[in-house]
Amino acid sequence: MSKIVLLATEKPFSAAARDEVVAIIKSAGYTARVLESYKGKGPLLEAIADADAAIVRSDSIDAEVLGAAKKLALVVRAGAGYDSIDTAAAKGKNVAVMNTPGQNANAVAELAFGMMIYLARGKFDGKTGSELRGKTLGLHAFGAVGRAVATIAGGFGMTVFAYDPFVKPETFKAAGVEAVGSAEELYKRSQYVSLHVPATAETKNSIGKKLLSLMPKGGTLVNTARKEIINEPELLEAFGERADLRYISDIPPSDATLATLKEKFGARVYVTPSKMGAQTEEANVNAGLAAARQIVGFFERGERQFIVNP
Ligand code: 3PG
Repeated sequence: MSKIVLLATEKPFSAAARDEVVAIIKSAGYTARVLESYKGKGPLLEAIADADAAIVRSDSIDAEVLGAAKKLALVVRAGAGYDSIDTAAAKGKNVAVMNTPGQNANAVAELAFGMMIYLARGKFDGKTGSELRGKTLGLHAFGAVGRAVATIAGGFGMTVFAYDPFVKPETFKAAGVEAVGSAEELYKRSQYVSLHVPATAETKNSIGKKLLSLMPKGGTLVNTARKEIINEPELLEAFGERADLRYISDIPPSDATLATLKEKFGARVYVTPSKMGAQTEEANVNAGLAAARQIVGFFERGERQFIVNP
């Protein structure tokens, strides 16, 4: 019987990207099912029941969803971060989980600069702002997005530092970036710090007052990573103590934190209405098609390259 591949995207891809994903699935002789813009878990529990593989974005694939799947062998996260998938529960059910690293990195990196310029220019209020050229930029983690940000920062004439204990010295060198030995040093030396760490048990709530207070005058934290890595009470505390700190993010924090940020520190904060770093036509196509091809490679040729729960 033909394999069933489910494309489940609460936040949908563009129509063109979705259609290309479906075309790849069909040309492998599989059946494609599309579940877009769904609300609540019910539709996903139903749709995944007879799927052999699924492509998702930040959709929550928890133990309950995995439990509803009777034949599932593979879930591909069309994107980088797989914190919304219970990889251990998947492993327990013999379900492989993959991601598509790097495919949406440029979209996220470009948005980081869009937001930096927006805030540096006073949210386009016409008053005197500042430039990015000559400023220091610290990259907290140096994966695909961090490297894409470094490339663009070179064009802006910024001096780039990076901290990532998991990356080899030659990788920083090849990118023309100065590696620093600790997160503390990174925050001390950087006027802008751009976050690119995944949300894990170790990184959750790890960005707080201690690091923020080290930043130079006018220090700006740029978050296109995950809201969970920010210690929100400490962020508010640091902002209360220092009138020069700034925060820009494309991931809205909790409602209460957002309300306080806007009410008390509005002029030096910018947060997009919804998570949208990877929301470009190009990134939808790159990540979606990579995911579809990885599924075909897994079933037809036993390819396991991007498995994150081996
Ligand atoms: C990722 O981890 O790839 C990005 O955060 C994008 O997530 P999204 O596909 O849910 O927009």
